[in-house]
Amino acid sequence: MDSLAATVARMPALRAAVAADPSSHRVLTGERPTGPLHLGHLVGTISERVRLQRSGVDVLVILADYQVITDRDVADRLSDHVRGAVLDQLAAGLDPDRTTVFAHSAVPALNQLMLPFLSLVTEAELHRNPTVKAEHAASGRALSGLLLTYPVHQAADILSCRADLVPVGKDQLPHIELTRVLARRFAERYGPVFTPPEPMLTDTPELPGLDGHTMSTSRGNAVPLGATADETAALVRRARTDPERRITVDPDGRPGVYGLLTTAALCLGRDPHELAATLDGAAALKRLTTDAVNDHLAGHRARRAELARDPGLVDDVLARGNARANDLADETLDEVRAAMGMRYGRVRTRSAG
Ligand code: TRP
Repeated sequence: MDSLAATVARMPALRAAVAADPSSHRVLTGERPTGPLHLGHLVGTISERVRLQRSGVDVLVILADYQVITDRDVADRLSDHVRGAVLDQLAAGLDPDRTTVFAHSAVPALNQLMLPFLSLVTEAELHRNPTVKAEHAASGRALSGLLLTYPVHQAADILSCRADLVPVGKDQLPHIELTRVLARRFAERYGPVFTPPEPMLTDTPELPGLDGHTMSTSRGNAVPLGATADETAALVRRARTDPERRITVDPDGRPGVYGLLTTAALCLGRDPHELAATLDGAAALKRLTTDAVNDHLAGHRARRAELARDPGLVDDVLARGNARANDLADETLDEVRAAMGMRYGRVRTRSAG
């Protein structure tokens, strides 16, 4: 069995174990703040986070800001995207009293773990990572040292806060595998400090973008959660369709129609084939999709707008999240230094009493 098949086969048992004892698990999940979060994030990863939080799992959400500069020079409007992401998590139901939202640039000890971890991999291994290879090819630029080594940085994200579960899509599995390898190699060289985490494969099917291709902010085919109803209508209007009156489910032959139809079906909780049979022509499909998306997101957008009116809220949530992530990472780094024989020159703390 290959590692993807093995991971898929492991999921039911893993989910059962989490359901049986949620509070004994810690989840790290998150994304690169490269743009506004969109509908695909909400139906896939963010709602899964909310479910995990509500079940009693300790959830940490990382805003992987250093990862933004793996395949581009500048992190454009980074702080807008970070702030927007926090608002979207809160509007979706993440509770800052229970869930930790933090930026990895704000956690020095996390970043310091990169050094011992880098010593545990070879350059050849880094070059074999299929996701890095694909991202490098897509970037159309020279391979930066950060792009080559970012899976090690991601391992530092995960191991610094001792997450035992990492919800991910298929493309992230090589990074979790590397994290497990690093945890084991660290143990062989210095002693057992880390428990290898397990990937939790997201089981929601991937929602295509409005053009039928993979949804992504950079393709302009995604509906941002924070967009207005009018902006949403304009995005849908721009989608490429065809003059055929009959609406069919045909991902390869009619990608634009397919993207709109699956989006509408998802928002309405209906089967795309059934929905297709009720429609006559692309204009009707576009009207239906606009209304379906706007209705589906109305509650989220209203909550998001309300939260955005509180000027100190986002900074407050991040300050608390960053503080907890720092506490966890400081503790981990201390154990790492102890295991590596680097616990010297520390400031003496006076014992109480
Ligand atoms: N690489 C992930 C992505 O692009 C984001 C990420 C960074 C992440 N660090 C993480 C996800 C740690 C889970 C755990 O989606």
